[in-house]
Amino acid sequence: MNVRALAAKAVFDVLERGISLSVALPEQQQHVENGKDKALLAEICYGIMRHLPQLDKCVSDCLSKPFKGKQRIIHQLLIVGCYQLYFTRIPAHAAVSETAEACRQLKFNGLVKVVNGVLRNIERKKAPLCDSVDTLKYNTPAWFIKRLQQAYPTQWQQIIEQSHQRPPMWLRNNQQQQTRENFLAKLSAESIDAQSGAGEDAILLAKPTDVNALPDFASGSVSVQDGAAQWAASLLAPQNGEVVLDACAAPGGKTCHLLEIAPEVQLTAVDFDEKRLERVQQNLDRLKLKAQVIHGDAADIPSWWQGDKFDRILLDAPCSATGVIRRHPDIKWLRKNQDIEELAALQQQILQHCWQWLKPGGTLLYATCSILPQENRDQVSAFLASTPDAKLVAIEQQPEAEDIGWQILPGQDDMDGFYYARLVKAI
Ligand SMILES: C[S@@+](CC[C@H](N)C(=O)[O-])C[C@H]1O[C@@H](n2cnc3c(N)ncnc32)[C@H](O)[C@@H]1O
Repeated sequence: MNVRALAAKAVFDVLERGISLSVALPEQQQHVENGKDKALLAEICYGIMRHLPQLDKCVSDCLSKPFKGKQRIIHQLLIVGCYQLYFTRIPAHAAVSETAEACRQLKFNGLVKVVNGVLRNIERKKAPLCDSVDTLKYNTPAWFIKRLQQAYPTQWQQIIEQSHQRPPMWLRNNQQQQTRENFLAKLSAESIDAQSGAGEDAILLAKPTDVNALPDFASGSVSVQDGAAQWAASLLAPQNGEVVLDACAAPGGKTCHLLEIAPEVQLTAVDFDEKRLERVQQNLDRLKLKAQVIHGDAADIPSWWQGDKFDRILLDAPCSATGVIRRHPDIKWLRKNQDIEELAALQQQILQHCWQWLKPGGTLLYATCSILPQENRDQVSAFLASTPDAKLVAIEQQPEAEDIGWQILPGQDDMDGFYYARLVKAI
């Protein structure tokens, strides 16, 4: 099957079946062998998620009646064709003929002429993509624009702009294997351009690179992790010998960093999602680190834990992921407005429960990759108001000492959007 047909299938899975692109894309990539084709497939799918409303309108305007039911995949295929015409350097005749061939491969022979005709029509006119309303202009759902406007009256446009950028690639140096300076020297010897980030182990690559080209990647020299996510372990600051809980651990990026910083910590990594939990173990194995990995509910600790309370807890809570749209542009179309209040209620429940399992004097780091105050600042304010033994300890990096937590916005110092609040329990 050609790349366009596979792209239409992946886009269909996201938009019609609510599957995340990080699951749908690899499923289709299995069917292509050539690395260049895999990259083109990813480029088309990610690009479509960034520009969906404009592409969708362009295609819909060319159809006399919309495709329904099983034929919806031909609508997605037309979007694939339209994306190539507007956003790639693929010659128009190749984009049109390959997309028409994809229609045949998807077994809609009767619609090949329609696909050909619509794409030729779009190519002939090549009218500027419509931006008459905010959703089209910003390629962002209206509910999300509204929430951003309320939370960031002067910065919301810049946040949307940043969320459309292609993210840089960050590495986390494994301090158990070498110093960051040593690893930077190894990168330089391989002509890979990189610089240190603000976090103690952070390395920012000048351009994304295949991990297999990185020195000693397979034996655990470095991991791929955004600069913002790397603050979690340093801010929790685990000490060797302590009993630590990573309450929502999968796929384990932060679990591993905690152990790289303090390998003698007794770490328990828990997650609700059994499948995602497998990746925690894989990451630990590659980095030769040890933790107790448990499939369990962070809102019901006694159901899987018989030990004492914890010295430190990392609560990297399930969230809207609105801070990482630049890495996962499909989030914009998978999330719904009502999800935010549901997520906030779940976060509050997990936070209150984990707090009961923190020792007096212990530290809990609340983290999300969200930029919405409902999941962050407001959440922590409500928790502090209802929890007399909780005290917020300012984070050095936050702009104002009196801010409730540290909100990182997407693109700030090249990082993803993230939120941290450090809470200490009274003795
Ligand atoms: C933001 S992700 C965690 C990312 C992870 N800390 C890392 O750095 O790789 C949130 C995780 O919370 C998990 N989760 C959601 N509800 C949970 C619950 N009640 N108990 C435990 N884990 C939960 C999800 O399965 C998801 O893996």
